[in-house]
Amino acid sequence: MSTRVAIVGASGYSGEELVRLLLHHPHAELVAVTSRQSAGQTVAQVFPRFASHPKARALRFTEPDAAVLARVADVVMLALPHGVAAEYAIPLLAAGRTVIDLSADFRLRSAATYAEFYGHPHPAPGLLETAVYGLPEFYREAIRQTRLVASPGCYPTSILLPLLPLLRAGLVRPTGIIADSLSGVTGAGRKAEVDYLFCECNESLRAYGVPKHRHLSEIEEQLSLAAGQSVTIQFTPHLVPVNRGIHTTLYLAPTTAFQTPAETMALSEKIGACYAAAYAHEPFVRVLEGKSMPDTKNVVGTNYLELAWRLDPRTGRLIVLSAEDNLLKGASGQAVQSLNILCGYPETAGLLPG
Ligand SMILES: NC(=O)c1ccc[n+]([C@@H]2O[C@H](COP(=O)([O-])OP(=O)(O)OC[C@H]3O[C@@H](n4cnc5c(N)ncnc54)[C@H](OP(=O)(O)O)[C@@H]3O)[C@@H](O)[C@H]2O)c1
Repeated sequence: MSTRVAIVGASGYSGEELVRLLLHHPHAELVAVTSRQSAGQTVAQVFPRFASHPKARALRFTEPDAAVLARVADVVMLALPHGVAAEYAIPLLAAGRTVIDLSADFRLRSAATYAEFYGHPHPAPGLLETAVYGLPEFYREAIRQTRLVASPGCYPTSILLPLLPLLRAGLVRPTGIIADSLSGVTGAGRKAEVDYLFCECNESLRAYGVPKHRHLSEIEEQLSLAAGQSVTIQFTPHLVPVNRGIHTTLYLAPTTAFQTPAETMALSEKIGACYAAAYAHEPFVRVLEGKSMPDTKNVVGTNYLELAWRLDPRTGRLIVLSAEDNLLKGASGQAVQSLNILCGYPETAGLLPG
Protein backbone atom coordinates (compact mmCIF):
# COMPACT_ATOMS: atom_id res chain seq x y z
CA MET A 1 0.00 0.00 0.00
CA SER A 2 1.29 3.48 -0.79
CA THR A 3 1.89 6.17 1.81
CA ARG A 4 -0.11 9.36 1.52
CA VAL A 5 2.27 12.33 1.76
CA ALA A 6 1.55 16.06 2.05
CA ILE A 7 4.06 18.88 1.61
CA VAL A 8 3.62 22.12 3.55
CA GLY A 9 5.56 24.93 1.89
CA ALA A 10 5.58 23.14 -1.45
CA SER A 11 6.14 26.31 -3.49
CA GLY A 12 9.61 27.00 -2.07
CA TYR A 13 12.87 25.66 -3.45
CA SER A 14 13.08 22.58 -1.26
CA GLY A 15 9.30 22.12 -1.48
CA GLU A 16 9.53 22.09 -5.28
CA GLU A 17 12.19 19.37 -5.12
CA LEU A 18 9.97 17.36 -2.78
CA VAL A 19 7.13 17.70 -5.29
CA ARG A 20 9.38 16.44 -8.09
CA LEU A 21 10.63 13.47 -6.07
CA LEU A 22 7.19 12.48 -4.78
CA LEU A 23 5.42 12.80 -8.14
CA HIS A 24 7.75 10.06 -9.38
CA HIS A 25 8.07 8.04 -6.18
CA PRO A 26 7.16 4.37 -6.67
CA HIS A 27 5.49 3.94 -3.25
CA ALA A 28 4.41 7.38 -2.00
CA GLU A 29 1.29 9.20 -3.16
CA LEU A 30 1.42 12.99 -3.14
CA VAL A 31 -1.99 13.99 -1.75
CA ALA A 32 -1.62 17.64 -0.76
CA VAL A 33 0.63 20.62 -1.42
CA THR A 34 0.31 23.94 0.37
CA SER A 35 1.29 27.53 -0.30
CA ARG A 36 -0.50 30.68 0.80
CA GLN A 37 0.50 32.56 -2.35
CA SER A 38 -0.25 29.74 -4.82
CA ALA A 39 -3.45 28.39 -3.22
CA GLY A 40 -6.02 27.48 -5.88
CA GLN A 41 -3.49 26.89 -8.67
CA THR A 42 -2.49 23.46 -9.90
CA VAL A 43 1.05 22.13 -9.45
CA ALA A 44 1.42 22.32 -13.25
CA GLN A 45 0.45 26.01 -13.27
CA VAL A 46 2.97 26.90 -10.57
CA PHE A 47 5.67 24.55 -11.87
CA PRO A 48 5.23 24.16 -15.64
CA ARG A 49 8.17 21.75 -15.75
CA PHE A 50 5.93 19.12 -14.13
CA ALA A 51 3.01 19.73 -16.51
CA SER A 52 3.38 16.44 -18.36
CA HIS A 53 2.60 14.55 -15.16
CA PRO A 54 -1.18 13.94 -14.86
CA LYS A 55 -1.07 14.36 -11.06
CA ALA A 56 0.54 17.79 -11.48
CA ARG A 57 -2.37 18.89 -13.69
CA ALA A 58 -4.94 17.66 -11.16
CA LEU A 59 -3.46 18.50 -7.75
CA ARG A 60 -4.08 22.06 -6.52
CA PHE A 61 -2.19 24.04 -3.93
CA THR A 62 -4.23 24.76 -0.81
CA GLU A 63 -3.85 27.09 2.16
CA PRO A 64 -1.90 25.29 4.89
CA ASP A 65 -4.31 23.85 7.48
CA ALA A 66 -2.97 21.24 9.90
CA ALA A 67 -6.40 19.76 10.64
CA VAL A 68 -7.11 19.17 6.94
CA LEU A 69 -3.64 17.76 6.32
CA ALA A 70 -4.00 15.36 9.26
CA ARG A 71 -7.17 13.98 7.61
CA VAL A 72 -5.68 13.35 4.17
CA ALA A 73 -2.04 12.39 4.79
CA ASP A 74 -0.09 9.75 6.71
CA VAL A 75 3.19 11.65 6.54
CA VAL A 76 3.54 15.43 6.35
CA MET A 77 6.76 17.00 5.11
CA LEU A 78 7.39 20.55 6.32
CA ALA A 79 9.45 22.75 3.96
CA LEU A 80 8.76 25.92 5.97
CA PRO A 81 10.86 28.62 7.61
CA HIS A 82 12.14 27.75 11.08
CA GLY A 83 9.74 28.83 13.80
CA VAL A 84 6.79 28.32 11.44
CA ALA A 85 7.45 24.58 11.02
CA ALA A 86 6.82 23.88 14.71
CA GLU A 87 3.37 25.54 14.46
CA TYR A 88 2.37 22.76 12.05
CA ALA A 89 4.35 19.93 13.63
CA ILE A 90 2.62 20.29 17.02
CA PRO A 91 -1.00 19.66 15.86
CA LEU A 92 0.05 17.10 13.24
CA LEU A 93 1.91 15.00 15.80
CA ALA A 94 -0.98 15.37 18.24
CA ALA A 95 -3.28 14.00 15.51
CA GLY A 96 -1.08 10.94 15.21
CA ARG A 97 0.66 11.86 11.94
CA THR A 98 4.34 11.40 11.13
CA VAL A 99 6.29 14.60 10.44
CA ILE A 100 9.49 15.08 8.47
CA ASP A 101 10.65 18.62 9.07
CA LEU A 102 13.22 20.23 6.78
CA SER A 103 13.60 23.30 8.99
CA ALA A 104 15.88 23.77 12.00
CA ASP A 105 13.05 23.57 14.53
CA PHE A 106 13.75 20.07 15.84
CA ARG A 107 17.40 19.50 14.95
CA LEU A 108 18.85 20.46 18.32
CA ARG A 109 18.59 18.57 21.58
CA SER A 110 18.92 21.76 23.61
CA ALA A 111 16.17 24.40 23.67
CA ALA A 112 18.70 26.85 25.16
CA THR A 113 21.03 26.40 22.18
CA TYR A 114 18.05 26.93 19.84
CA ALA A 115 17.18 30.20 21.59
CA GLU A 116 20.83 31.32 21.46
CA PHE A 117 21.21 30.71 17.72
CA TYR A 118 17.69 31.39 16.42
CA GLY A 119 16.91 34.42 18.56
CA HIS A 120 13.58 33.27 20.02
CA PRO A 121 12.50 30.66 22.58
CA HIS A 122 11.92 27.19 21.20
CA PRO A 123 8.22 26.85 20.28
CA ALA A 124 7.88 23.24 21.51
CA PRO A 125 10.81 22.26 23.75
CA GLY A 126 8.95 19.15 24.92
CA LEU A 127 9.19 17.67 21.42
CA LEU A 128 12.96 17.98 21.12
CA GLU A 129 13.70 14.73 22.90
CA THR A 130 11.34 12.79 20.63
CA ALA A 131 12.87 14.13 17.40
CA VAL A 132 15.50 12.15 15.51
CA TYR A 133 18.25 13.90 13.55
CA GLY A 134 17.56 12.70 10.02
CA LEU A 135 21.06 11.81 8.88
CA PRO A 136 20.39 8.25 7.69
CA GLU A 137 24.04 7.20 7.59
CA PHE A 138 24.24 7.67 11.39
CA TYR A 139 20.66 7.49 12.71
CA ARG A 140 18.98 4.94 10.45
CA GLU A 141 17.57 2.76 13.22
CA ALA A 142 16.25 5.71 15.22
CA ILE A 143 14.63 7.19 12.09
CA ARG A 144 12.81 3.89 11.53
CA GLN A 145 11.15 4.22 14.93
CA THR A 146 10.28 7.89 15.24
CA ARG A 147 7.31 10.01 14.22
CA LEU A 148 9.35 13.23 14.08
CA VAL A 149 12.37 13.45 11.79
CA ALA A 150 14.46 16.63 11.89
CA SER A 151 16.14 16.63 8.52
CA PRO A 152 19.65 18.14 8.76
CA GLY A 153 20.67 21.46 7.26
CA CYS A 154 22.56 21.65 3.97
CA TYR A 155 25.88 22.93 5.36
CA PRO A 156 25.74 20.53 8.33
CA THR A 157 25.31 17.53 5.97
CA SER A 158 28.32 18.64 3.92
CA ILE A 159 30.44 18.89 7.09
CA LEU A 160 29.12 16.03 9.22
CA LEU A 161 29.30 13.22 6.66
CA PRO A 162 33.05 13.79 6.05
CA LEU A 163 33.86 14.47 9.70
CA LEU A 164 31.79 12.16 11.92
CA PRO A 165 33.57 8.90 11.00
CA LEU A 166 37.00 10.45 11.65
CA LEU A 167 35.98 11.89 15.02
CA ARG A 168 34.26 8.71 16.14
CA ALA A 169 37.41 6.72 15.26
CA GLY A 170 39.64 9.23 17.08
CA LEU A 171 41.67 9.84 13.93
CA VAL A 172 41.43 13.65 14.14
CA ARG A 173 41.61 16.07 17.04
CA PRO A 174 38.28 17.61 18.08
CA THR A 175 39.99 21.01 18.42
CA GLY A 176 41.06 23.60 15.85
CA ILE A 177 38.67 22.32 13.14
CA ILE A 178 38.11 24.77 10.28
CA ALA A 179 35.31 24.41 7.71
CA ASP A 180 35.01 26.64 4.64
CA SER A 181 31.82 26.15 2.65
CA LEU A 182 30.54 27.58 -0.62
CA SER A 183 26.84 27.52 -1.44
CA GLY A 184 24.62 28.27 -4.41
CA VAL A 185 21.94 30.93 -4.02
CA THR A 186 18.96 28.54 -3.68
CA GLY A 187 20.34 27.89 -0.19
CA ALA A 188 18.71 31.16 0.85
CA GLY A 189 15.22 30.10 -0.23
CA ARG A 190 12.84 31.51 -2.83
CA LYS A 191 12.35 34.89 -1.25
CA ALA A 192 12.84 38.42 -2.49
CA GLU A 193 15.69 39.99 -0.52
CA VAL A 194 18.18 42.52 -1.83
CA ASP A 195 21.20 40.35 -0.90
CA TYR A 196 19.99 37.58 -3.19
CA LEU A 197 18.95 39.60 -6.24
CA PHE A 198 20.70 38.55 -9.46
CA CYS A 199 22.89 41.66 -9.68
CA GLU A 200 23.96 41.33 -6.04
CA CYS A 201 25.13 37.71 -6.45
CA ASN A 202 26.11 37.28 -10.08
CA GLU A 203 29.86 37.58 -10.88
CA SER A 204 30.58 38.00 -7.19
CA LEU A 205 31.67 36.04 -4.10
CA ARG A 206 31.19 36.88 -0.46
CA ALA A 207 31.22 35.31 2.98
CA TYR A 208 28.31 35.76 5.35
CA GLY A 209 27.23 34.62 8.82
CA VAL A 210 30.78 35.14 10.15
CA PRO A 211 31.71 34.08 12.82
CA LYS A 212 28.50 32.50 14.17
CA HIS A 213 26.24 31.09 11.45
CA ARG A 214 23.09 29.40 12.78
CA HIS A 215 24.06 26.01 11.41
CA LEU A 216 26.99 25.91 13.85
CA SER A 217 24.52 24.94 16.55
CA GLU A 218 23.61 21.57 15.01
CA ILE A 219 27.08 20.98 13.56
CA GLU A 220 28.76 21.40 16.95
CA GLU A 221 26.07 19.41 18.76
CA GLN A 222 26.53 16.45 16.41
CA LEU A 223 30.34 16.70 16.45
CA SER A 224 30.31 16.82 20.26
CA LEU A 225 28.19 13.66 20.41
CA ALA A 226 30.66 11.91 18.06
CA ALA A 227 33.76 13.10 19.91
CA GLY A 228 32.38 12.52 23.41
CA GLN A 229 33.39 16.06 24.39
CA SER A 230 32.36 19.59 23.59
CA VAL A 231 33.53 20.61 20.09
CA THR A 232 33.73 24.17 18.78
CA ILE A 233 34.67 24.78 15.15
CA GLN A 234 35.43 27.71 12.88
CA PHE A 235 32.91 27.78 10.03
CA THR A 236 32.78 30.32 7.21
CA PRO A 237 30.02 30.00 4.61
CA HIS A 238 30.26 31.80 1.27
CA LEU A 239 27.67 32.64 -1.35
CA VAL A 240 28.73 31.73 -4.89
CA PRO A 241 26.93 32.67 -8.10
CA VAL A 242 25.47 29.27 -9.00
CA ASN A 243 21.89 28.15 -8.49
CA ARG A 244 22.63 25.08 -6.42
CA GLY A 245 25.41 22.99 -4.91
CA ILE A 246 27.59 23.16 -1.79
CA HIS A 247 31.33 22.58 -1.65
CA THR A 248 33.03 22.25 1.74
CA THR A 249 36.74 22.12 2.64
CA LEU A 250 37.70 20.90 6.12
CA TYR A 251 41.12 21.50 7.69
CA LEU A 252 41.82 18.89 10.37
CA ALA A 253 44.65 17.83 12.67
CA PRO A 254 45.23 14.06 12.73
CA THR A 255 45.91 12.55 16.16
CA THR A 256 48.93 10.70 14.74
CA ALA A 257 51.93 12.70 13.55
CA PHE A 258 53.05 12.04 9.98
CA GLN A 259 56.04 13.41 8.12
CA THR A 260 57.90 10.57 6.48
CA PRO A 261 56.42 8.77 3.46
CA ALA A 262 56.01 5.63 5.60
CA GLU A 263 54.08 7.52 8.33
CA THR A 264 51.96 9.24 5.70
CA MET A 265 51.18 5.92 4.01
CA ALA A 266 50.26 4.30 7.34
CA LEU A 267 47.89 7.13 8.25
CA SER A 268 46.42 7.12 4.73
CA GLU A 269 45.54 3.48 5.12
CA LYS A 270 43.81 4.14 8.44
CA ILE A 271 41.76 7.01 7.01
CA GLY A 272 40.85 4.98 3.92
CA ALA A 273 39.76 2.07 6.12
CA CYS A 274 37.72 4.41 8.34
CA TYR A 275 35.79 5.83 5.37
CA ALA A 276 35.36 2.37 3.84
CA ALA A 277 33.87 1.08 7.10
CA ALA A 278 31.51 4.06 7.27
CA TYR A 279 30.46 4.36 3.64
CA ALA A 280 31.32 1.34 1.48
CA HIS A 281 27.70 0.18 1.77
CA GLU A 282 26.02 3.59 1.86
CA PRO A 283 23.98 4.25 -1.28
CA PHE A 284 24.43 8.04 -1.32
CA VAL A 285 28.00 8.71 -0.15
CA ARG A 286 30.78 8.40 -2.71
CA VAL A 287 34.34 8.37 -1.40
CA LEU A 288 36.44 9.38 -4.40
CA GLU A 289 39.65 7.63 -5.25
CA GLY A 290 42.65 8.59 -7.36
CA LYS A 291 42.93 12.19 -8.48
CA SER A 292 39.20 12.98 -8.53
CA MET A 293 37.99 15.84 -6.38
CA PRO A 294 34.43 16.49 -5.24
CA ASP A 295 32.73 18.63 -7.84
CA THR A 296 29.27 20.10 -7.54
CA LYS A 297 28.56 19.43 -11.22
CA ASN A 298 28.74 15.69 -10.49
CA VAL A 299 26.17 15.78 -7.68
CA VAL A 300 23.74 18.60 -8.52
CA GLY A 301 20.38 17.03 -9.37
CA THR A 302 21.24 13.91 -7.34
CA ASN A 303 21.09 12.73 -3.73
CA TYR A 304 24.80 11.88 -3.64
CA LEU A 305 27.47 13.45 -1.50
CA GLU A 306 31.02 13.06 -2.79
CA LEU A 307 34.06 13.29 -0.56
CA ALA A 308 37.82 13.07 -0.97
CA TRP A 309 40.79 13.69 1.31
CA ARG A 310 44.50 14.51 1.18
CA LEU A 311 47.23 14.44 3.83
CA ASP A 312 49.63 17.38 3.75
CA PRO A 313 52.95 16.37 5.42
CA ARG A 314 54.20 19.97 5.07
CA THR A 315 51.52 21.38 7.40
CA GLY A 316 50.62 18.21 9.29
CA ARG A 317 46.97 18.65 8.26
CA LEU A 318 44.34 16.38 6.81
CA ILE A 319 42.18 18.16 4.22
CA VAL A 320 38.76 16.68 3.51
CA LEU A 321 36.51 18.01 0.76
CA SER A 322 32.85 17.35 0.00
CA ALA A 323 30.24 18.30 -2.59
CA GLU A 324 26.46 17.86 -2.55
CA ASP A 325 23.29 19.43 -3.92
CA ASN A 326 21.98 21.70 -1.14
CA LEU A 327 18.40 21.00 -2.26
CA LEU A 328 18.77 17.19 -2.43
CA LYS A 329 21.29 15.51 -0.10
CA GLY A 330 21.24 18.84 1.76
CA ALA A 331 17.43 18.97 2.02
CA SER A 332 14.67 17.22 0.07
CA GLY A 333 16.53 14.12 -1.15
CA GLN A 334 17.71 13.37 2.36
CA ALA A 335 14.17 13.93 3.67
CA VAL A 336 12.81 11.41 1.13
CA GLN A 337 15.59 9.02 2.22
CA SER A 338 14.16 9.30 5.75
CA LEU A 339 10.62 8.82 4.39
CA ASN A 340 11.77 5.58 2.74
CA ILE A 341 13.36 4.36 5.97
CA LEU A 342 10.29 5.27 8.04
CA CYS A 343 7.94 3.52 5.67
CA GLY A 344 10.09 0.42 5.18
CA TYR A 345 10.72 1.08 1.47
CA PRO A 346 14.10 0.52 -0.18
CA GLU A 347 16.15 3.50 0.94
CA THR A 348 16.94 4.50 -2.62
CA ALA A 349 13.29 4.44 -3.78
CA GLY A 350 12.60 7.45 -6.00
CA LEU A 351 16.10 8.80 -5.45
CA LEU A 352 18.34 7.10 -7.99
CA PRO A 353 19.19 9.05 -11.14
CA GLY A 354 17.03 7.91 -14.05
N1 LIG B 1 17.11 26.00 0.45
C1 LIG B 1 17.94 25.09 0.91
O1 LIG B 1 19.01 24.81 0.32
C2 LIG B 1 17.62 24.36 2.19
C3 LIG B 1 18.43 23.28 2.57
C4 LIG B 1 18.15 22.59 3.75
C5 LIG B 1 17.10 23.00 4.55
N2 LIG B 1 16.34 24.07 4.19
C6 LIG B 1 15.26 24.48 5.08
O2 LIG B 1 14.03 24.08 4.49
C7 LIG B 1 13.01 25.05 4.82
C8 LIG B 1 12.43 25.60 3.53
O3 LIG B 1 13.49 26.21 2.82
P1 LIG B 1 13.32 26.76 1.34
O4 LIG B 1 14.66 27.26 0.93
O5 LIG B 1 12.62 25.77 0.50
O6 LIG B 1 12.35 28.01 1.62
P2 LIG B 1 11.53 28.93 0.61
O7 LIG B 1 12.01 28.68 -0.79
O8 LIG B 1 11.59 30.31 1.15
O9 LIG B 1 10.03 28.36 0.74
C9 LIG B 1 9.30 28.50 1.94
C10 LIG B 1 7.93 27.85 1.76
O10 LIG B 1 7.19 28.01 2.98
C11 LIG B 1 5.94 28.70 2.71
N3 LIG B 1 5.73 29.61 3.84
C12 LIG B 1 6.52 30.66 4.19
N4 LIG B 1 6.05 31.24 5.31
C13 LIG B 1 4.96 30.54 5.70
C14 LIG B 1 4.04 30.65 6.77
N5 LIG B 1 4.16 31.61 7.70
N6 LIG B 1 3.03 29.75 6.84
C15 LIG B 1 2.88 28.78 5.90
N7 LIG B 1 3.71 28.63 4.84
C16 LIG B 1 4.74 29.49 4.75
C17 LIG B 1 6.16 29.41 1.38
O11 LIG B 1 4.96 29.52 0.63
P3 LIG B 1 3.87 30.69 0.85
O12 LIG B 1 4.63 31.90 1.29
O13 LIG B 1 3.21 30.83 -0.48
O14 LIG B 1 2.95 30.16 1.90
C18 LIG B 1 7.09 28.45 0.65
O15 LIG B 1 6.36 27.42 0.03
C19 LIG B 1 13.71 26.14 5.65
O16 LIG B 1 13.49 25.92 7.01
C20 LIG B 1 15.17 25.98 5.29
O17 LIG B 1 16.05 26.41 6.31
C21 LIG B 1 16.56 24.74 3.01
